[in-house]
Amino acid sequence: MSGRPGRVEGKVCVVTGAASGIGKATARRMAEEGGRVALADIDAHGVGVAAGELVDDGLDAQSFAVDVSDPGSVRRLYDEVANRYGRVDICHNNAGILLTDDTDPVDTTLATWQRLMDVNLTGVFLCLKYQIPHLLNAGGGSIVNTASMVALIGSASPQLAYAATKGGVLAMTREVAITYAKRGIRCNCVCPGPIETPLFGNLFGDDEEARERRMVHVPTGRFGTPVEVADAVLYLASDEASWTTAAALTVDGGITVAYTTP
Ligand code: NAI
Repeated sequence: MSGRPGRVEGKVCVVTGAASGIGKATARRMAEEGGRVALADIDAHGVGVAAGELVDDGLDAQSFAVDVSDPGSVRRLYDEVANRYGRVDICHNNAGILLTDDTDPVDTTLATWQRLMDVNLTGVFLCLKYQIPHLLNAGGGSIVNTASMVALIGSASPQLAYAATKGGVLAMTREVAITYAKRGIRCNCVCPGPIETPLFGNLFGDDEEARERRMVHVPTGRFGTPVEVADAVLYLASDEASWTTAAALTVDGGITVAYTTP
């Protein structure tokens, strides 16, 4: 510890999808940088364990159960956090799912489409809906949404509904950024490429060949790690990015600008 204030010192930070992967890493980075972190997830046990690990390390963290697709649950989350800490300053809207039977428009069922919309798109909408009044009460704040590189480029191995949700998250990021720019709320998103998390692992199972086929497209020759996304989120969330709003920050090892990378 340097004794210097952390990069989000004293800020009340809410991270959804904090039991695993990118959200868990973001929660840790924010707590390490002085944030008072509310970890929220539908996996109540997992998020309790994640928060417990931070508390054991002397960090300021507490877990909350939430289903981001349920309006009552999301409203309760932000009200509870505001009651507990007196304010909300930073929100990482990150919870998301990927379904393996989400493919092209012909084969993807309406049920699969709807489930992805409910969690990945409506989930972010509901978080925005119920967190923004608290951010305004605090005099402003910073929102970081987790979109994806598939919001920016198409794929020959389609995940149509997933890509549509992430395109929607990018569009909402821009709308919110512009709408609230004069009221002290910044809103940005990260667009990660393939990151080694349980969600990404589910795509392949034990199919090493499928993994290798994806790797061919990665200029850096490796997939990303959750903390590499977390550090980008931390930057956007912090005052270091005070004149950055409506940005889509790719964290993808160069994939989105690579033509061919044999
Ligand atoms: P993960 O599966 O490791 O973590 C996702 C977390 O979200 C889990 O803890 C899960 O319980 C939680 N969650 C799922 N449904 C929920 C709900 N209804 N309410 C509250 N929490 C819920 O996945 P990962 O990879 O960390 O994904 C985080 C975000 O990053 C997602 O939005 C994902 O789409 C996005 N992303 C991931 C990439 C990757 O390659 N891993 C690439 C680009 C974007």
